[in-house]
Amino acid sequence: MAHATTNSNAAQLQRLKEQGRVPVAFVLNGQPAQALQGDTVLTAVLTQSAQLRTNEFAGTPRAGFCMMGACQDCWVTLGGTDAGRKVRACSTALQAGMQVCTTPGAVATAAPVEVQP
Ligand code: FES
Repeated sequence: MAHATTNSNAAQLQRLKEQGRVPVAFVLNGQPAQALQGDTVLTAVLTQSAQLRTNEFAGTPRAGFCMMGACQDCWVTLGGTDAGRKVRACSTALQAGMQVCTTPGAVATAAPVEVQP
């Protein structure tokens, strides 16, 4: 389970439980990142950063809304073998090595680093 923080520079979500799951390496906006097996892309991103993306009209930070695949507020773009594919972060399971880009028009290209369980 996770909860929101009040520090705008910190990750939006902090893990409180299930911290013993297997680590999964992925790439977030071209930077190596780490999540845990079973995370959604949304959880993986929000445990790394304060926002999921920026609203394309208002420029305001967004972190998803419904968390169940209905509101369309969590689209991110994949890189690598899935380059250009858009997915809903809240309803997409993170895969090892996945390249996630939260900045419109940018593509994540860095290789994920090895993670030791
Ligand atoms: S948060 Fe609503 S569709 Fe993902």
